[in-house]
Formats: sequence, structure tokens, C-alpha cells
Amino acid sequence: MPLMLHCSIGGRGDASAAARYRRGMDTPAQLVILGASGDLTVRKLMPALTSLAAGGHLGEGFSVLGVSRRPMTDDAFRAQIRDAMPAERAAAFDAFAPRVGYQAADVNDLDSLLALGERLDTLPGGADAGRIFYLALKPDLFGPTVQQLSAAGLVAMRVGVVPAFRRVVIEKPFGHDLASAKALNSELHGLLREDQIYRIDHYLGKETVQNLLGFRFHNAIFEPLWNRHHVELVQITVAEDIGVENGRAGYYDTSGALRDMLQNHMLQVLSLIAMEPPVSLEAEAIRDQKVQVLRALHGPEPDEVVRDSVRARYARGVVGGQEVPAYLEEEGVPEGSRTETYVAIRAEIDTWRWRGVPFMLRHGKRLAKRFTEVQVQFRTPPLQLFNRPEGMAPSAFRRALKDGTLCQIRPNVLTLSIQPREAISLSFGVKRPGTAMVMAPAHLDFDYRDAFDVPSAPAYERLLLDAITGDATLFLRADEIEASWRFADGILSGWELGGEPLVEYPAGGWGPEGADELFHGCEGTWSRG
Ligand code: BG6
Repeated sequence: MPLMLHCSIGGRGDASAAARYRRGMDTPAQLVILGASGDLTVRKLMPALTSLAAGGHLGEGFSVLGVSRRPMTDDAFRAQIRDAMPAERAAAFDAFAPRVGYQAADVNDLDSLLALGERLDTLPGGADAGRIFYLALKPDLFGPTVQQLSAAGLVAMRVGVVPAFRRVVIEKPFGHDLASAKALNSELHGLLREDQIYRIDHYLGKETVQNLLGFRFHNAIFEPLWNRHHVELVQITVAEDIGVENGRAGYYDTSGALRDMLQNHMLQVLSLIAMEPPVSLEAEAIRDQKVQVLRALHGPEPDEVVRDSVRARYARGVVGGQEVPAYLEEEGVPEGSRTETYVAIRAEIDTWRWRGVPFMLRHGKRLAKRFTEVQVQFRTPPLQLFNRPEGMAPSAFRRALKDGTLCQIRPNVLTLSIQPREAISLSFGVKRPGTAMVMAPAHLDFDYRDAFDVPSAPAYERLLLDAITGDATLFLRADEIEASWRFADGILSGWELGGEPLVEYPAGGWGPEGADELFHGCEGTWSRG
């Protein structure tokens, strides 16, 4: 009898992932968090590590060392982390705390990094342990920190010693434009091998983003349709209801919607939706295909930019029943700011598979609600046989459809909901019961919450574990980052050269009105989630 590959609901059916988890448990590893007093460490990294430890994924030989400039004892650091820990993880943190330590060091001071090295040698595994340096730092410190770590001899791979790997995890933003991303890549490549560098994009750690790959390449029924012959349009939305509160304005104003979300998170989602099938699930096989999409991605040229893109910022409005200030009134936004909080672009991917299919990308802050979603809209049948408006003569119906004054319904839309709902839905038309031949919309729905009894793990859990176990699939390679910046730079300079206006939209709404005009003819409109 043939052996059936079986995966029960809720289980990990992937043998290589299981092997990685085991490897993670057996490997003595030291995670050094540089920037340990920052928000990311407290809010994301330590809770994620605590869950991983509680789940038995980190093994006995694993330890964490927090590093920042402020002198502090191990106990004081642990107390600080515990105080901020979500209540449900406090007990798990108490069990994990003995493996968490703290060392004051200044990344600009070589002596303090040499002392850090001495401390690491005293931790389990000593110098033979694998080491991961997590740079939870301001972006201008990424290059100088790796320079200093290298000068202190902390990131050199120790040839012949297994598993004494040395890895560096780098947070976003990786560069501010193509030139700065290239400069940072080349600085890092002077000190590290590419396979030592783990560039984070937390969207790739989201269960539903990873599912884009699984859904496409495990379900053969969609594959024949996944191209320009059958797909009319793809739209990707990341809508947020938050603004730039909580002291983020200083960073955000130097970035804006295009750099902060579209260049990284959204292009990663796009590359998973549009990539060719990889030959295996190896990191390089997947990243090779993703980068091809990014290289083939084109935004509007300067003379098309006003027609095919929108940039805007929020004005005062009401979100969730609360009055909220305009972007320009947010604390920390400089007077005269020209930063956008909303971007919408009609782009194209010049590959054999996608040529001519619009990829509509939209992101905005302070919109009506928070949702991230991909919609794949399939072409309509060649003739619309049904739903002729009552009283309209067949010839008038035919003419109206032909000249576009009447649009055919788009019955087949596949919606991949990434957050907050984690779901997949396929729409189609069914005959409405009765004597008339009238087609009505219907849906097939799948919801992760209903199907699986475990909640999706937070993105940082998956990403930290992958960095510890050495799986770079969900991290960005240098060429992906550069291809994404090439696209973003093209839009930014197009806006400048093409005179793209910065329009306003009321907070709590659906963004500027003009954004619907990026859709042509009967292509439809932006999803409202
Ligand atoms: C960050 C951006 O990378 O992602 C933020 O800097 C944004 O501006 C955040 O709010 C959104 O992440 P998520 O996971 O909540 O969609």
C-alpha cells in the first residue's frame, strides 16, 4: 500500500521544520540583544523568547544576554522585563529568567565589547556556542555596531568549530533608499558572509503570510489559473487605524508610508503572491524566485505618476468614535512636513506570467479599520449571459457592456485575509432560487480560528527561532532589499519629477477619493476588508 503523507490539523507536517526545532534544542546558543532597554526588546523579543522557552524550543544550552549602555544588574534587568511581561507569561518568564542576563556595553566602545566577549565566554557553551547578535538599535548604528563587533572578534566564524556560528539579526529599516541600502550591504559584506546576516521583515513571520506560499504551491487547482490569462487584477491592502502616536512621529516623518510599509512588508507579500514555484523549500530557492518578481516590478513613470499613484496624509477625523488630530498636529511632526501617511500605486510585473495584470498596492494610517489582505480578482466569462437589468433590451445590454457604461460582475475573487482575520474566502455566483435566471453572489470561507485550535504564534517567535536554528528563508537577502528599494526610489523620484500632489483625507475614512481612479474601466475598486 502506498505511504500517504499525512498532516493532522494543528500539527506541523513539515519534517524539515521538525528537524530544525530539534536542532534548536540541542544547540548551545547565546542570543545577545543589543538595544535591550528599548521598546522592541521589552514588547516583542522577550515575550517571544519566553514562549519559545516554555514550549521547549530553546533547549538547556540556550541563554540570552541583554546589552545596552545603562549599568544594571542581571536581576534589575530581569525585573524590568518581568514587569512588562503580559500577565499570562509571567510564570513562564520566572522559569526562563535564570537564563537571562545583562551586560552594560557601548557599541561605540571597543573595550566594553571586549568585556562583553569575556562575559559570553562564561555562559553555557562558552566560545564554542553559536552566537546571535540581535541589533535592536537605531538604524544609523547598524553598520558601526557590526564594525565594532568585528573589531572585538565577536562575529568571526570559527572555522572547524561546530556549531559556533556567528549571526547578526538586523531590524528594519534597512537603508533609507537604494544608495544607503547598498552602502550598508557592502559595509556588512566586508565583515560578514551573507549567510551570517538575517535581515528582519516581521511580516514574513506572520502565519498567514507564510501560508501564501503553502496555499499557492500545495493546491494545484489554483496554479493553472495563477497568471495573466485568468487573473484580471491583484490588490494588496495594509490598512491601519492607528496614526503616529506614542512618540513615533520623529522616525515616521523621515520615512512615510511608502518607505515604512510598502517598500518592505507589502513588497514581501507581493513577491510571495507573484513568484514562480521554487524548486525546493530551501531558503535560496525561495529567495531566488522572490527577487525575480521584485526586479520585474514597475511603478508608474514620472509622466504617469499622477494617474497611477496617490500620496496623501490624514487630516483630523474620528476613529472608533474618538476625535483624532491631523498628522500635522501629532506631537513631534515638524512644521511644514510633506510626509505621506497614505500611498496607493498601480504597478505591473513584467514577467511572462504577469505582464499586463495591474498590481494595486495601498497602505494608509488612520483609515476606517485595520486589515491586511490580498485579493486576486479573476477574469469574467467571455459573455455575460445573466443579470440583464430589468427593462433593458438585449441589444442595449450588449452595447452597455461593450462600451463599459455597465460593468459585468466579477464573480470570482479569492481573498487571502492576513490580519486581524486570518482567513481565505472565494467568491462565486450561484443561481438565486426562483423562476428567473438570476445569479447571486456566494462565498466559500475558511477561517484559521475555526479550523485550528491553536492561535497563530506571534511573528517574532517564528523569526527568532529561525535565526537561532539557522533558517534564513523568512529573512531578506541583500539583493531582495536592493530590488525593493529600486522600486521605492523610482516612485519617490517619480513623485518629485511628476509633481505628484500630497492630498488630505479625513482620519477614520477610506483615504483620498482620487484613489479609486487608479482602477480603470470595470476593474472595480479598493476593498474595504
Ligand atoms: C512597522 C511599521 O514595521 O509595521 C509601523 O513601522 C506599522 O508603522 C507596523 O504600524 C505594522 O505592523 P503590524 O504587524 O501591526 O501590521
